[in-house]
Amino acid sequence: MAPAFDISLDSLRARSVAAPNAAERGASDASAPTGGTFFLETFGCQMNDHDSEKVAGVLLSRGYQQVDSPDSASLILYNTCSIREKAAQKVFSRLGEYRTRQRDGQIIGVLGCLAQQEGEEIFERAPWVSLVCGSASYRKLPELLAELEAGNRRVTGLDTDTDETFETEITRRDNPWRAYLTIIEGCDKSCAYCVVPYTRGPERSRASASILSEVRQLADLGYSEVQLLGQTVNSYADPSKSRVRFSDLLLTVADVPGIRRVRFTTSHPRDFTPDIVTAIESQPKLCNHVHLPVQSGSDRVLAAMQRSYSRDEYLDKVAVIRGAKRPISITTDIIVGFPGETESEFEQTLGLLDAVRYEGVFSFKYSPRPNTASLAMSETVSEEEKGRRLAALQERQRRIQAEHNATFLGESFELMVSGKSRRENQWSGHTTCNRVLNFASQSRELLGTYVQVRVTNVGPSSLVGEHVA
Ligand code: 5AD
Ligand code: SF4
Repeated sequence: MAPAFDISLDSLRARSVAAPNAAERGASDASAPTGGTFFLETFGCQMNDHDSEKVAGVLLSRGYQQVDSPDSASLILYNTCSIREKAAQKVFSRLGEYRTRQRDGQIIGVLGCLAQQEGEEIFERAPWVSLVCGSASYRKLPELLAELEAGNRRVTGLDTDTDETFETEITRRDNPWRAYLTIIEGCDKSCAYCVVPYTRGPERSRASASILSEVRQLADLGYSEVQLLGQTVNSYADPSKSRVRFSDLLLTVADVPGIRRVRFTTSHPRDFTPDIVTAIESQPKLCNHVHLPVQSGSDRVLAAMQRSYSRDEYLDKVAVIRGAKRPISITTDIIVGFPGETESEFEQTLGLLDAVRYEGVFSFKYSPRPNTASLAMSETVSEEEKGRRLAALQERQRRIQAEHNATFLGESFELMVSGKSRRENQWSGHTTCNRVLNFASQSRELLGTYVQVRVTNVGPSSLVGEHVA
């Protein structure tokens, strides 16, 4: 894959995807080239990765060039995450490096969730920062950049009160085969522990026609896999007259000629309806993987977390997925040590792992966050105990995954090849159920192609195979 900074604007214009109304909004006001250079580092989730691709597009349109080191950049941007305290600390420590390193005239900007969360406080903690902009204000980036270029040294975009989504004329995508596409921004759920509704603002969906026109252009440009993104992707509510349902949107995207795989993440259990499973059953291009965060296996904790479903309601959704005509992988997110979580409530979460037998689990220690409801709840689980619960959960899941993996031995899968190892003849790719497989092949060039691979070796967390001609 070509490194980001190798990509020129001209080649991007050829590969760019114009969002239909971006120009009207001035999102790509490519006035006189600035001749500046920018370095952009991204922390956090796939939504942030994709936001950065769009931010890079806005900057390239303004005549900036992307560089691979902050030292040689006139504009240094951090697209930040604040989901857990550790993520936020990491950003502040990165910013701290600039107290001494900042070169004359270098402009430093903080984007994303931490920018929204801390707002102008960032100027207090790191006075060398000039731009603070949350994701709900990215539409204003061209104006904010113009202010910076005019010499303004304190520029903010911190409004979250918006019903618009961030669409750009140019998106500088990192991956040449798999394209991310945000279909819904923000979040209207109010999980007690989560900063996202605060940092990303209210839920707003993108018009279905705009999504489809971008998917068609992506297919024309050679992308064969699209991944539809949203904090609660399946809460998608088409704002246009056609009111396309999420499951119908999936099917329509899959019908676009040239598209071979469609993924979507993250699904919220409350809005996970059986028609989504029916769509996956009927259309093999819809990848057979659902990421369905459960967070806890205890009804009391789920209620305290304001997750809006019970353990049984969640298990009913899982039963529909497991009952599908073709196997669908389920992965999840779990938080351990939520305020008040008792040992027996934690054991109910362990029991849920056995009941669902997830194909993958992302697990986290509860981290109190500003502007969340759970901040007011007193923490009852020590850091040490959170660590113990996390390790116990991961061990239980490791065993389940090892059992899953053992069943794959000798099976063949179609992979989309996305990685080439430094070791000769070694490649890697994803199955439709989003498993990574490392495999050997004598072929000279496989990147971006689809190949059949037979699993020859399995470990608890890895699968190894060989190319089947
Ligand atoms: N503490 C720990 N984990 C959290 N997550 C979200 N907020 C917190 C928090 N305050 C986890 C949830 C979510 C995932 C993206 O991050 O499990 O699904
Ligand atoms: Fe956060 Fe809950 Fe919204 Fe997910 S659904 S982003 S966990 S508030």
